[in-house]
Formats: sequence, structure tokens, C-alpha cells
Amino acid sequence: MAVERTLSIIKPDATRRNLTGKIIAKFEEAGLKVVASRRLKLSQADAEAFYGVHKERPFFKDLVSFMISGPVVVQVLEGEGAIQKNRDVMGATNPANAAPGTIRKEFAESIEANSVHGSDAPETAANEIKFFFRDLDIVG
Ligand code: CMP
Repeated sequence: MAVERTLSIIKPDATRRNLTGKIIAKFEEAGLKVVASRRLKLSQADAEAFYGVHKERPFFKDLVSFMISGPVVVQVLEGEGAIQKNRDVMGATNPANAAPGTIRKEFAESIEANSVHGSDAPETAANEIKFFFRDLDIVG
């Protein structure tokens, strides 16, 4: 399987509860390597742009408010089949449906405050990585 890169965001509900290290440990245990990392606070414009594909969805406004409510940790994860592997480690969007051992099952508070975001496909991953990082910032 090809080595891929994917974008991960550790969301404000998780940084607020000081779970950054526990979440990164889950990525590393699954064989994903953190090749870029930054902690930052999204502006409203950043969050609206990042989640632009969801702008017609009923949850968009609340999602943006939540994502700007505290710091996030944005990371590039690298590994074989990293996009799907990260999705497997995260678990289902709604923690009520997430499998045991996944990040969302163990840590998420709700479908909105679900602790992590991960890119869903190769094209999205490339665009989402570019949203936060320059090539220079990513060291494999
Ligand atoms: P994420 O993977 O970051 O992508 C979009 C986010 O919208 C999702 O995780 C959830 O945190 C949030 N969200 C809130 N409500 C819903 C919903 N009903 N369906 C899907 N995503 C939702």
C-alpha cells in the first residue's frame, strides 16, 4: 500500500481536557507518524473556509462556533494508507456509533465535540494539508 499523508485536527473539546498526548499516542500506536504539528486558534473566517463544503448543512454555524472556541492542534500524519488508517483510529463521526478503542469512542463528547477531524480522501487531504502547512514545514 502507498505511503500517504493526511490532515488531522485535535479539536477544542480535546485540547480543553488536555488530551493531546493521549490522542497522538493512538495515532502512533496505529503506525501513523506525526510529520508536522502546530497548535493554533482558528479565526471565524478560517473555520468557515476550512469547513466550506458543509456551509449549507444545518450544523454549520454551530460547528464553526465550536471550532473557534479554543485551541486546536493541526497535524500531518504519514504512513501506509494513512487516510483510511486515520479514519479507522478516529472511529465513526458520532461517538455513539464509534467502535471500542477508537479515539471518538474513548474521548468524544458528542457528534459535534468529537475530538478529532481527519481528511476523507486523497484530494481533500492534499487541500487540507495545504490549508495549514507549507512544504517546508513537513518533515517525513
Ligand atoms: P468532522 O470530521 O470534523 O467533519 C465535519 C464535522 O461536523 C464533524 O466532524 C462533526 O464534528 C460536525 N457535525 C456536527 N453535527 C453533525 C452531523 N449531524 N453530521 C455530521 N457531522 C456533524
